Amino acid sequence: MTFSLGPIPIKTPFILAPMAGCTDLPFRLLCREYGAGLCYSEMIACHGLVSQQQDCLELLLTTAAEQPVIMQLYGCDPGMMGEAAAILAELPIAGIDINMGCPMEKIVQTGAGAALMKNPRLAEKIITAVCKNSTKPVTVKIRSGWNQHTITAPEIAKIAEGAGAHAIAIHARTWTDGFTGPIDLKVILQVMQSISIPVIANGDITTHEQAQAMLKKTGCAGVMIGRAALGKPWIFSGSVNQHPSMAYRVKALLRHLELAEIHLAPEPNLSKIRNHAWKYFRGTTTGPAIRKQIDATTTYPELRSFIHTLAERVL
Ligand SMILES: Cc1cc2nc3c(=O)[nH]c(=O)nc-3n(C[C@H](O)[C@H](O)[C@H](O)COP(=O)(O)O)c2cc1C
Repeated sequence: MTFSLGPIPIKTPFILAPMAGCTDLPFRLLCREYGAGLCYSEMIACHGLVSQQQDCLELLLTTAAEQPVIMQLYGCDPGMMGEAAAILAELPIAGIDINMGCPMEKIVQTGAGAALMKNPRLAEKIITAVCKNSTKPVTVKIRSGWNQHTITAPEIAKIAEGAGAHAIAIHARTWTDGFTGPIDLKVILQVMQSISIPVIANGDITTHEQAQAMLKKTGCAGVMIGRAALGKPWIFSGSVNQHPSMAYRVKALLRHLELAEIHLAPEPNLSKIRNHAWKYFRGTTTGPAIRKQIDATTTYPELRSFIHTLAERVL
């Protein structure tokens, strides 16, 4: 065990980041199978959840096999965030996360996501409302700050701890940085010094070794991996060759398809599944050609049969 979230032990420190459009139930299950200690859902709009919009309700799909999972909420209205938290708390999940890192214009314009990094008072109201309405542990996913002149992460982390949060995940970049440039290790350490709840470090981990190094370098409780897990769920495993053979990649993708067939309606989710599928071949010599063929498929059976043909060639 590495740390616990309230009463829930997290068995390995490698954590799947929330990624809209990507971290659905099949992918989370796959990452768990490869050893992720905890997985985060895609972000869920609090107003959509409270008004029971179908697209939000679909994001609530979970199974016992994927536990522990955390479902993430976003919004800017403390009352609505509290109501949404009460709904999530009824589900068989490990906890609820508050999104304070999303940089998208349509989200920050409303005052939600990363905009909360420059509004500590509203952030406090939201965290308080979510914690009060949740019987499950609450985590908060923050950025370093809004920009290099307003590094608010240590302050917001302290506020979150005071309001009842059980852990902080920090993507060590500001809103202005977006998703590029070096992460700020210093701010991760500052956040760790400012609170006593577990801190999960996030940003630009591209290999399992880097994740291990981050744990060693900072002493953080967990390392959250986002983009590098896409098409590479074995990144969570310490015992898998991190540059696997073609056969290994195809097998992993076949398992992903199997999970998608069990838990999703594959046809309406074709573009989502295609978008996962080609990533299994990133960095291989035949990767670009395979991607073209995957992108050219227009139905799920066509995609499936292409991957099976590929499997016959390499397995
Ligand atoms: C496609 C995509 C979707 C994302 N969606 C979310 C989201 O729903 N909630 C969130 O807090 N962060 C989201 N993020 C940010 C990631 O959780 C993570 O903080 C960021 O990608 C940095 O980690 P990485 O360098 O390991 O990818 C998203 C990132 C990507 C690339």
